Amino acid sequence: MNVIWSPQPRQKIFMQRRENEALYGGAAGGGKSDCAIAEALRQVHIPHYRGLILRKTYPQLSEMVDRSHEIYLPSFPDAKYNEQKHSWTFPSGAKIYFGAMQHTKDRTNYQGKRYDFIDFDELTHFTWDEYSYLFSRNRPNGPCTRCYIRAQANPGGIGHGWVKERFITPAPPMTPIWDDVKIVFPDGKSEIRRRSRIFVPSSIFDNKILMQNDPEYITRLASLPENEKRALLYGDWDSFSGQVFNEWRNNPDGYITRKNTHVIEPFKIPSTWKIYRGFDFGYSRPFSVGWYAVDHDRRLYRIRELYGCTGTPNEGVRWEPQEIARRIKRIEKEDPNLKGRHITGIADPSIFDESRGESVAAMMERVGIYFEKADNTRIAGKMQIHNRLAFDEGGVPMLYVFSTCKHFIRTVPALVYSQTDVEDIDTTAEDHIYDEVRYIAMVNPINPPPKKYEAIMYDPLQLGQYNFYRQG
Ligand SMILES: Nc1ncnc2c1ncn2[C@@H]1O[C@H](COP(=O)(O)OP(=O)(O)OP(=O)(O)O)[C@@H](O)[C@H]1O
Ligand SMILES: [Mg+2]
Repeated sequence: MNVIWSPQPRQKIFMQRRENEALYGGAAGGGKSDCAIAEALRQVHIPHYRGLILRKTYPQLSEMVDRSHEIYLPSFPDAKYNEQKHSWTFPSGAKIYFGAMQHTKDRTNYQGKRYDFIDFDELTHFTWDEYSYLFSRNRPNGPCTRCYIRAQANPGGIGHGWVKERFITPAPPMTPIWDDVKIVFPDGKSEIRRRSRIFVPSSIFDNKILMQNDPEYITRLASLPENEKRALLYGDWDSFSGQVFNEWRNNPDGYITRKNTHVIEPFKIPSTWKIYRGFDFGYSRPFSVGWYAVDHDRRLYRIRELYGCTGTPNEGVRWEPQEIARRIKRIEKEDPNLKGRHITGIADPSIFDESRGESVAAMMERVGIYFEKADNTRIAGKMQIHNRLAFDEGGVPMLYVFSTCKHFIRTVPALVYSQTDVEDIDTTAEDHIYDEVRYIAMVNPINPPPKKYEAIMYDPLQLGQYNFYRQG
């Protein structure tokens, strides 16, 4: 028999999953995109079947389209590809579309359409809004098709944070993750339905065909800079290229000793330390309030947070400023580290804007919550965070985060560089907590850490590592 494409063992495992959503990936070259192209074929014998494979831009899609010709045509010689529509039509009438979504507004191109199978290649290039919008398009066009969503990804990119949070953090790989979804019917009755998702890891080591065809590929991955190597060769979701704060370490071994970690166990703040409250306002996007203590060495501790997010990434709870102020007041009355303390509020300067009526700051003042204007100089603020995250020789940084500040730990390490302003972070990501910590860091600026000067020896054969001629 002439076999055109058959899954390698890992691809087979991914293709056998029955969950509503499944993410395949982590490392580079594991055979992810190939698998998506083949998976899209599963239901092409059903005339009303519609499949959709998405990449961020059309130029990025071209490689997949080329590969689809190699796989689809030998299997279905009568299948036709339409260059304008980027779509395949199969003899049964079934169609597979290739689509792009360069900007979030492009998602409306998919409005009113239905796809039984939707695949996102390089999912971390998409925002949560883009991914979740397509859920509503995952509907059958007729009976007897299966509706499901698949995705492939490497660590890094604008969507790194939410993808990690959705597929990687909740459960070990290959463990189904279940969500309860409540449906309220017009008659008032409600029902809980369950949706499932899973992460299936893959790496170059699972793609024997590529390792055979291009034995040097693995060497190229191994010789990447450390962070990229960890992400692309081993699929490590804690380090990736493009990560702005790659100094960040969340190391549970140091939670008590406070060594070589930024995350630490909460403790009682001494009464002589100064307390600050940072604030970044948001309504349809999340707002962020962070409380900080400063010790006598000017070290910052993020000790408490109030983050106005619905639970959907980057979606705000839509609280009025007075409501936020009331919540702040309550926390400052009840938290043992805050009650009875003098607290200096520092906020995004835009909350003082009165051009559209009463300012947000004025509304909060009416409830008794006061702020001073922050210095919003972006690059200087970013440098201050870098200065504070750097570890000294003893493994001690100038910024610690209490392990209870979950949203800081989720969003700040996930920030990536902007494509258009390479010095700054990509502000389309969830950057509200970052903004608020930046305001506090700018009130307490510190010098950059001393640079370590290490003599670099010319050692092309790397003999130094073998301890030759060094006795004792
Ligand atoms: N089942 C298969 N049969 C034949 N060739 C395969 C198969 N799986 C993968 N390959 C080969 O391996 C190559 C790399 O696979 P693919 O592009 O799917 O990897 P990837 O994980 O998407 O890589 P990246 O991380 O770079 O996006 C393919 O171009 C194809 O030549
Ligand atoms: Mg790929």
